[in-house]
Amino acid sequence: TGLVTVDPGFMNTASCESRITYIDGDAGILRYRGYPIDQLAESSSFLEVAYLLIHGELPSADELSAFEDRVNRHTLVHEDFRTFMGTFPRGAHPMAVMSSAINALSTFYPESLDPFDPETVELATVLLLAKTRTITSYVHRTSRGEPLLYPDYSRGYVEDFLRMTFAVPYEQYTADPVVVEALDKLLILHADHEQNCSTSTVRIVGSSHANLYASVAAGVNALSGPLHGGANEAVLTMLDEIQANGGDASEFMRRVKNKEQGVRLMGFGHRVYKNYDPRAAIVKKSAHAVLQALGKDDELLDLALGLEEIALSDDYFVSRKLYPNVDFYTGLIYKAMGFHPSMFTPLFALGRMPGWIAQWREMMNDPQTKIGRPRQIYTGEVEREYVPADRR
Ligand code: CMC
Repeated sequence: TGLVTVDPGFMNTASCESRITYIDGDAGILRYRGYPIDQLAESSSFLEVAYLLIHGELPSADELSAFEDRVNRHTLVHEDFRTFMGTFPRGAHPMAVMSSAINALSTFYPESLDPFDPETVELATVLLLAKTRTITSYVHRTSRGEPLLYPDYSRGYVEDFLRMTFAVPYEQYTADPVVVEALDKLLILHADHEQNCSTSTVRIVGSSHANLYASVAAGVNALSGPLHGGANEAVLTMLDEIQANGGDASEFMRRVKNKEQGVRLMGFGHRVYKNYDPRAAIVKKSAHAVLQALGKDDELLDLALGLEEIALSDDYFVSRKLYPNVDFYTGLIYKAMGFHPSMFTPLFALGRMPGWIAQWREMMNDPQTKIGRPRQIYTGEVEREYVPADRR
């Protein structure tokens, strides 16, 4: 059938054409719909970027406020859904709860499932952006046995997410503007990254005409692994361990370079970036600013800076072109904001939601799309006769 090569990890296989995100990994460039990531992070808002990714153009002021309103109005979830969110065992990993909850949205909102009706797809888009925010805050609260709050429509997307996550019921809550701005920026930085593992998963599930919720829930599961979105949590675990063992960065780096039990410097290296990840540069600046503004002097930040400094001048990392990726500094910011490490990857998922939706919609509208079905090269036994058990 003309099969010639296996391409493990699809290092050199393009699965689609896309107009959404451009990456030049050698130059460290990332653009959404042509707009440089640093400009969007500096000047845009998460919902504006979501609109841009999904609809292809920046919204007018009226379009943006209509979109924000619509998302805001859908942040409330069905009461039974709240009950459902409370049924997971304490100690369940938030990513498992999150993917289950997103999948379950299809059972609560069956009117939003038709993948071929543009209005229905637009409804599912808004529902997902709105309810993932609520789900992410509930994931945090149920893991701590805390009551689930209702959304407040008068507040902005990020501001109300923080209130629903951290506020004490019946007490006034004002989110620190520094935290609102920093989290908004982080969500923008995570909003899309072309055909990474989770996005490719969303596309391949959707290529079977599975609904948007089913496709995106699969993306959340793909994101949970430590080589992908789970890296932000793994970085903090790594920093904690180094600190607990006396804080010797050089000794840890020696183990990484010797590949002892597969120890890796988490938050370093990338399949596409062979230069400084432009998102990491922005996050690093933001980490300094947030920690300073919140008055949280975290010695783990110094440790991370020390690890980076060693890596950037060490031949092992230099020759392999390993630089900090987006996950290296994000955990330190999330921690300073008050999130438990197990919430770091759900925050990544919240940020990636617009990208998954945009990519799914692009795929569904692409006449070139076919069901995803890679081939293989069979290396097993040739044909042989079945032998009954008493003769084996
Ligand atoms: N620490 C030490 N060595 C590394 C690292 C690292 N973090 N990353 C790659 N290497 C080495 C690897 O051992 C290999 O060495 P050799 O050529 O001697 O066998 C070489 O660099 C190439 O690595 P690879 O695993 O073949 O590269 P890949 O493109 O398949 O993997 C990666 C990319 C991101 C999975 C990998 O760099 C990694 O495991 N990094 C740590 C986990 C991480 O931070 N993931 C987040 C990625 S960015 C955000 C996201 O996707 O969610």
